[in-house]
Amino acid sequence: MQKIVIEGGQPLHGRIAIGGAKNAALPLMAASLLTDGVLTLSNLPHLADITSMLNLLAQHGIGISMLGSAANGGHAGRVIGLDGGQITSTTAPYDLVRKMRASVLVLGPLVARMGEARVSLPGGCAIGTRPVDLHLKALEAMGTEITLADGYVHAVAPKGLKGAVVRFPFVSVGATENALMAATLAQGETVLENAAREPEIGDLAHCLVAMGAKIEGIGSERLVVQGVPSLHGASYSVLPDRIETGTYAIAAAVTGGDIELTGTSISLIGSVVDVLQKAGVTVTDTADGMRVARTSGRLHGVDVMTQPFPGFPTDMQAQMMVLMCTAGGAAMITETIFENRFMHVPELARMGANITVHGASALVRGVERLSGAPVMATDLRASVSLVLAGLAAEGETVVNRVYHLDRGYERLEEKLAGCGARIRRVDGSA
Ligand code: UD1
Repeated sequence: MQKIVIEGGQPLHGRIAIGGAKNAALPLMAASLLTDGVLTLSNLPHLADITSMLNLLAQHGIGISMLGSAANGGHAGRVIGLDGGQITSTTAPYDLVRKMRASVLVLGPLVARMGEARVSLPGGCAIGTRPVDLHLKALEAMGTEITLADGYVHAVAPKGLKGAVVRFPFVSVGATENALMAATLAQGETVLENAAREPEIGDLAHCLVAMGAKIEGIGSERLVVQGVPSLHGASYSVLPDRIETGTYAIAAAVTGGDIELTGTSISLIGSVVDVLQKAGVTVTDTADGMRVARTSGRLHGVDVMTQPFPGFPTDMQAQMMVLMCTAGGAAMITETIFENRFMHVPELARMGANITVHGASALVRGVERLSGAPVMATDLRASVSLVLAGLAAEGETVVNRVYHLDRGYERLEEKLAGCGARIRRVDGSA
C-alpha cells in the first residue's frame, strides 16, 4: 500500500492548475445513459472515481472513446465520448458500485430511459450512514415502483415516468441530481423543491439543456422540468473543481506561502474565501484565476459551520480545521451535513493539534506549530487534510492509505512539489 512522505515547514510558492470537478463529472457521465446519442465531455479529471464510473457505464453498454487531453501530456483535461446507443444491462452490480457511492446516480437515468434499473446499495467514504431514501422517494413520486432485496434497489416504471412535485425534506446533492436526470424524460412537468444549489447541479442542468432537456430555475432551489420524449448527444466542458481550489488555497495559507490557482475562480468558493479573509489570508482575482497568500504573521481563529451551497462546504471542513490548528485563538467548527466526519481529529491530535469534539462541533485551540507524525487517512477529504497538516508541520509526516486521495486529487504530489513542497509517494514497504 502506498504512502505519502512529507518534510514539512516549506512555504509554497508558484502556480497550480485546477482540474475539472469530480463531483460535476460523475453525474454528467451518468447523464450519458439518458440518450442514444454521444455525450462528449471535456475537462474531465484523471481520478480513480472517474475510472470507476467509466467501468460502471461500460458495463451498462455505454461505448467509451478517449478523445485526447487538453494539457499536460495526456494527464489533465481529458476528453471522453460516451455513446449511449446500446444499453445492454440495467444492473449496476455490487462489485462496481461499492467502490463509489456516486454510482447510485445511474439509477434515475436508467429507469427514465429503460423503464427499469437494479442498482446495488452504494458504499463510498465512511462518513456516516448516508442513506439513499431521498433518491428513491423522488423516483417513486414520479411513478417508479421500488423494491429492496439482497442489497439491491430494484426500480421499475414499465409505462415510463410521470411528472410530479417533489419536495425534498432537506437538501441532498445526489438526490437532486438523480431526480433531475429522471425528470428530463418523464411525461409532463416535474417540480423539484428545496433542490440542492451546488454549482455541480447547475453544471448538470446546463449539460442536460444542451442535450435537449427543458429546465427552468437553474441555480435556484426550485427546478421546473418539462419532460421530453428523448434527449440527444451534446458536447460539454466540466466546471473547475471548487474543492480542489479550496484545498490548494489552504495549502498556500497554512504554509505561509503564495500560490496562484489557475483555471478556477473566487466566485466558485465564496464561502471559503470569506473564512480565509477573516482569518487574515489575502485572496485576490488574477487574469487566470486567483491568488492566495499569507503575507502577515499568525492567522486568527474563525468559527465555521458547514451548510449546503452557498454555505461553507462540508468537503472543505477537514482542510479548514487544519488551518485553524495553528491560528491564534480558538475556532469552533460545526459539521451539519454528515455525522462522523471528524475522523481526521485524532490524527491531527497526534501531530500536536489541540481539538476537543462535542457532538457535531470541534473546538480547535490554536497551537504554535504542528509536528510531523505517521498518520492514517480515513476518507478522501480527511486524507488531504493530513497532507496539508504535514506541509505545515515541523519534521516528517507519513500519510498511510493514500488510495483515498487518488479518488479525488489528480497528481497531488506533483502539483504541490511544483510549488516547493518536499513530498513524495513511496511503496508501503519502503
Ligand atoms: C455529494 C458530494 C459529496 C459532498 C456532499 C455534500 C458527489 C459525488 N458527492 O454527496 O462530496 O460531501 O454532496 O455536499 O457529488 N441523505 C439522506 N438520504 C438521501 C440522500 C442523502 O439522508 O437519500 C443525507 C446524507 O446522509 C447527508 C445529507 O443528506 O447527511 C447530504 O447528502 P448529499 O447532499 O446527498 O450528499 P451526496 O450527494 O452523497
